[in-house]
Amino acid sequence: MNRTIALVVAAGSGTRAGGHRPKQYVEVAGRPLLCYSLQALLAHPLVDEIRVVIGHGHEELYASATAGLPLPPPITGGATRQESVRRGLEALAAGDEPLPRRVLIHDAARPFLPGRVIVDLLTALRNVDGALPGLAVVDTIKRVDENDMIIDTPPRHLLRAAQTPQAFHFDTILAAHRQVADMAVEFSDDAAIAEHAGLRVKVIDGAPELRKVTYEEDFRWAAETARKLGLA
Ligand code: CTP
Ligand code: MG
Repeated sequence: MNRTIALVVAAGSGTRAGGHRPKQYVEVAGRPLLCYSLQALLAHPLVDEIRVVIGHGHEELYASATAGLPLPPPITGGATRQESVRRGLEALAAGDEPLPRRVLIHDAARPFLPGRVIVDLLTALRNVDGALPGLAVVDTIKRVDENDMIIDTPPRHLLRAAQTPQAFHFDTILAAHRQVADMAVEFSDDAAIAEHAGLRVKVIDGAPELRKVTYEEDFRWAAETARKLGLA
């Protein structure tokens, strides 16, 4: 079986965005933010199944946001993004279905997911252990120490801003997540966990519309983009 599963992490509380409910459930141009990426994944021919990881206590918000969408039951996440992803992977591994061959791990907070990116990720995955979309950075990036003293300036042409979805072979990313589960450090994306495990991860061309909704002002961009893309 060559199954490809999309694991959408939506268990955060959206603290930086403020507001009365977690950002993934906020209405953007008439639909909850979460629905945009779910609809892109549901419509994609290379994605066989979608599982969503939600926050404990968000069951009703989730049910009303996704009413009518053909989705299996959600999985309960954890206190950090890393833990939410690991719980999602473990739930998939423990299920009745045969293990998926490939997994696309995606942030619910990135509503606009071009089909081209999924194709490019899965194509890249034929030759590597993991693949993610990335964008060239416009600013010069400084690496600093705890006192904000500069350590070095990596050459800008070799830097990429990481986005999601991030694609992996299911068994290798599950093993990598298990390996770091008890470590004190927290990894901010799954590629970093794959790197820690010594896996080969490739960056493919990202997309500006894969931007993450993080702050309140990002909702305005999201609503404008939904209209521009003809999704609203
Ligand atoms: N996420 C998750 N479980 C967590 C924390 C985050 O599933 N415990 C998910 C979020 O729902 C989001 C993605 O990871 O889709 C990226 O995280 P981020 O943008 O940081 O979202 P939040 O953690 O919700 O926001 P904040 O950090 O501002 O609280
Ligand atoms: Mg967060």
